[in-house]
Amino acid sequence: MAELHRSIKNRKGFYVKMKFFRTKNGKQENPFLIRYFKWILWFSLSFYFFVKFLNNHEPGTSSLKTTMINQSHRALSESIFHEPKDNHDLNDLKVYVYELPAKYNVDWLSNPRCSNHLFASEVAIHRALMRSEFRTFDPTEADFFFVPVYVSCNFSTVNGFPAIGHARSLLSSAVEFISSELPFWNRSNGSDHVFVASHDYGACFHAMEDRAIAAGIPEFMNNSIILQTFGVKYQHPCQNVENIIIPPYISPENVQSTLLKSPITAPRDIFAFFRGKMEVHPKNVSGRFYSKRVRTEILRKYGNDRRFYLKRHRFAGYQSEIVRSVFCLCPLGWAPWSPRLVESVALGCIPVIIADGIRLPFESTVPWPEISLTVRENDVAKLSGVLDYVAATNLSAIQRNLWDPKLRRALLFHDDVETGDATWEVLVELSKKLSSWFVVFHMELVRGTVADLASGDRLNVSSWDT
Ligand SMILES: *[C@@H]1O[C@H](CO)[C@@H](O)[C@H](O)[C@H]1NC(C)=O
Ligand SMILES: *[C@@H]1O[C@H](CO)[C@@H](O)[C@H](O)[C@H]1NC(C)=O
Ligand SMILES: *[C@@H]1O[C@H](CO)[C@@H](O)[C@H](O)[C@H]1NC(C)=O
Ligand SMILES: *[C@@H]1O[C@H](CO)[C@@H](O)[C@H](O)[C@H]1NC(C)=O
Ligand SMILES: *[C@@H]1O[C@H](CO)[C@@H](O)[C@H](O)[C@H]1NC(C)=O
Ligand SMILES: *[C@@H]1O[C@H](CO)[C@@H](O)[C@H](O)[C@H]1NC(C)=O
Ligand SMILES: *[C@@H]1O[C@H](CO)[C@@H](O)[C@H](O)[C@H]1NC(C)=O
Ligand SMILES: *[C@@H]1O[C@H](CO)[C@@H](O)[C@H](O)[C@H]1NC(C)=O
Repeated sequence: MAELHRSIKNRKGFYVKMKFFRTKNGKQENPFLIRYFKWILWFSLSFYFFVKFLNNHEPGTSSLKTTMINQSHRALSESIFHEPKDNHDLNDLKVYVYELPAKYNVDWLSNPRCSNHLFASEVAIHRALMRSEFRTFDPTEADFFFVPVYVSCNFSTVNGFPAIGHARSLLSSAVEFISSELPFWNRSNGSDHVFVASHDYGACFHAMEDRAIAAGIPEFMNNSIILQTFGVKYQHPCQNVENIIIPPYISPENVQSTLLKSPITAPRDIFAFFRGKMEVHPKNVSGRFYSKRVRTEILRKYGNDRRFYLKRHRFAGYQSEIVRSVFCLCPLGWAPWSPRLVESVALGCIPVIIADGIRLPFESTVPWPEISLTVRENDVAKLSGVLDYVAATNLSAIQRNLWDPKLRRALLFHDDVETGDATWEVLVELSKKLSSWFVVFHMELVRGTVADLASGDRLNVSSWDT
């Protein structure tokens, strides 16, 4: 046996060594399996087809990136095989929250609107994490690093909208700060770092799609995890990064006080409701029209239909109108998402989503198809018929699904993380990323002997060149 073993070990030829690793959140652990194969035709063929098979696998269920490095007689292939796992344990999750100078975050709170407006999830998630049991003060045991930068609170003195022109420089200066102070950014090149980008086009930081696409995601955020309100089901440069879709911020206190006055199950006297910007003649802004003219079309078609309660002006008490409505229209604005999605669900009004291809927040918890209607942007003319049909057939089934208190909880952020609330859902999504495990295997092909291969990292490839 020993004789045979030695002769195999010393037999010259082409051999393949495969090393399998598991990685956790980008951090590679020691190999858990090493195998040697003699490089023969059937092996190369089957390996070729194996790689092809994995590469063609459904995206999302598994993915494989293969790079072949041809260093004369050594071929090295590194592949990543990704196997999502369903059971994830929140209890083990640890998030380190960076303590940044006040100019990056709390200084902005001098304007009370900062923690209350549509984009305020950047503040809400930070606050909730600071006080949560998932926070760790020891960065060496952290699974994720939260970078709390408030970029949405520089409200324009002209129109009151958040000016986000400074977002990129504020964020990049924050990253410079953390990467010079602590080793953790450099360790993973930011891939275990989490940012909030709660704007129209998320981490592209612009309200107009063409400008957002042209600007792209800042390069330094490319490897990180972005919590963003923007998401679509097709390829888009503004979501071409590891991301989690979060709901826009709606104050849970406001929802609470609206529901105290009018409970969710109270009779609803408005059939279809919309209040918001609805231009009769939308301006052509660099070739694009607000809401792709969908809102204009809604107004044109249903402005005189008494069952449609359509209002174009701001009204602070509009939540009392939502809670009186059966259907709430949620057409796109500049971006596909809108705060109406959250307000409708929170106040029990069936959201009628008109935003082709939109990706909705927390789809694994919130059963959107069972609690909302979707109407294509081009089908606005059929809206009335769709609503009538649903009202006559399965209205009470949808309302029963929608009025589940679990859904209101999932879409609202609270100052303290509550089981099942929006920050909780973010943590669940993060922990899924963590527990989806990766198998990386390295394959080396050498001309030599198994013994040469077994010498591991001391392998000197060039010494076989003769
Ligand atoms: C690998 O490199 C060697 C030498 O540089 C070359 O002769 C050979 O054709 C290459 N093989 C492949 C598959 O590219
Ligand atoms: C706030 O926005 C204005 C207008 O875009 C800009 O000039 C100013 O520098 C910003 N302020 C900060 C502190 O970034
Ligand atoms: C991280 O990398 C940057 C750029 O390479 C460097 O300037 C910085 O000193 C590094 N940080 C640490 C903590 O080593
Ligand atoms: C950022 O990531 C995307 C997708 O992974 C990639 O296509 C792009 O080239 C990257 N950009 C930079 C500057 O690294
Ligand atoms: C870190 O990520 C950035 C952005 O994707 C990339 O340009 C850079 O080369 C990466 N650096 C290292 C050391 O991997
Ligand atoms: C909108 O404006 C662009 C130029 O900014 C022009 O090319 C386009 O034809 C206009 N579209 C319509 C429908 O008027
Ligand atoms: C309600 O009916 C519509 C139209 O038939 C259907 O698409 C939808 O799935 C139904 N929803 C529920 C919750 O039953
Ligand atoms: C590898 O081989 C080259 C060329 O034969 C030699 O110069 C070098 O010292 C060797 N390296 C090691 C680590 O053995």
